Amino acid sequence: MDLLSEKSRAVKFYNGESIPLELHKVRIVQKLHLVPIERRLEALYEGGFNTFQLNTTDVFLDMLTDSGTNAMSDNQLSAMMIADDAYAGSQSFIRLQKAVEDVLGKKYLLPVHQGRAAEHILGVAYVKKGSMVPMNYHFTTALAHITECGGQIAELLYPEAYKIDSDHPFKGNMNIEALEECIQKHGKENIPYIRMEASTNLIGGQPFSVQNMRDVRAIADKYGIRLVLDASLLGENAYLVKQREVEFKEKSMAEILLTFTGMADIIYFSARKLSSSRGGGICTNDIAIYKEMEALVPLFEGFLTYGGISIREVEAMAVGLYETLDETMISQSPSFIKYLVEEAKELGIPMITPPGVLGAHVDAMSFCSHIPQTQYPAGALAAAFFLVSGVRGMERGSVSNQRDENGNETYADMELLRLAVPRRVFTLSQIKYVIDRLKWLYDNRTLIGGLKFYYEPPVLRFFMGKLEPTSDWPQKLVAKFRADFGDSL
Ligand code: F0G
Repeated sequence: MDLLSEKSRAVKFYNGESIPLELHKVRIVQKLHLVPIERRLEALYEGGFNTFQLNTTDVFLDMLTDSGTNAMSDNQLSAMMIADDAYAGSQSFIRLQKAVEDVLGKKYLLPVHQGRAAEHILGVAYVKKGSMVPMNYHFTTALAHITECGGQIAELLYPEAYKIDSDHPFKGNMNIEALEECIQKHGKENIPYIRMEASTNLIGGQPFSVQNMRDVRAIADKYGIRLVLDASLLGENAYLVKQREVEFKEKSMAEILLTFTGMADIIYFSARKLSSSRGGGICTNDIAIYKEMEALVPLFEGFLTYGGISIREVEAMAVGLYETLDETMISQSPSFIKYLVEEAKELGIPMITPPGVLGAHVDAMSFCSHIPQTQYPAGALAAAFFLVSGVRGMERGSVSNQRDENGNETYADMELLRLAVPRRVFTLSQIKYVIDRLKWLYDNRTLIGGLKFYYEPPVLRFFMGKLEPTSDWPQKLVAKFRADFGDSL
């Protein structure tokens, strides 16, 4: 398997059209359901206007997430058949260790069942009451585990990161001056680690540069603080470095990945994303750090050679890690996202730019400027878009935020509808359908109304929460859809 020799270059069309070309073929397919809008309306009420509560039989294109939904390769599937099922000492785990060492450059691996399990273990090992964790930006589960352990976070992005429409190539960069101020203010003894999240998820899948991580590393060294890298979306971050950071234009994916990982004391990842499999891991080259967390894995996850992951998925993870080095694979999702974002923007739809990774992000604050943040514009847009298209996106705004320690609502910096583009799952005509329905909804946006919670769980409320519309706006949207599209699905 010589993945490193394959370089993706944009294929030029004779007719001058600029479209991404699929460099894979489909060999196993799954039938989709495009149910009528009247059924989708019922499904929304059944699911409390929360797209996490929808059943896939009502969903046409599932753009909820890339987590565990990336297409697997033939090599991953075949590796699963030779899994060495053993509670302890499995050869599959040895193969995974080798893949982690080859691709991420770390010798010691603690397997965990998924990314948030790594966040749990890091929290228990290092975060206590009074701890402050500086980071470029939070991810929902990372924040929840840090606050669960009594810690707080400081989000240290540059102002450019919060600009919806931008041409800054690295909006995920950590604000270096703010980082140093934060350390001086809180004291290095209260900072268990600095967290860098590759392709900052909640601000639109935006990468950071290698140079930025070098600067963060220098500060970490100056104050003797550990640097933790959330590598869940590191493959795509490295791909965008190759595209956007001049120094790395001619470097291979392997070199860029190792440049990043070489700067981290601890790496953790969701393998549901990073390696198109299931599972997750924490890895390091520091045996003392490994020992600080070792005992927690059998306690919370499972024995050290499977960590709560099925052994088949351990095999798929190992192969998936190597495939992260294949540019023809790793470029597929970002190039489809770029197409979706640029076409939508051309039609006047407010999108986060530059196009990032994981998905296309629609700016709900602008799309639904008539809906106040107290009525969750991103949640309303996610529900409305499902209603008119059958496409399930995810709310990434105030519904996904957690209340503060006094129980007050905290409003998100950005109200986004995220339309995930998992690797090698959708075709270009499906992406065109998404753009078409998005445009129709944009032209009819004043019909969308707000939402309010009628069931709000105390932790990670966006998963199980139930909301209702503030008026009969969904029925009005259905009526307009029927008037414009006749009996179309
Ligand atoms: N870190 C990042 C950057 C993530 O995007 C995720 C998950 C996690 C950690 C947690 O990993 O789900 O395996 O426990 N992101 C998914 C998403 C859920 O849809 O963006 P996990």
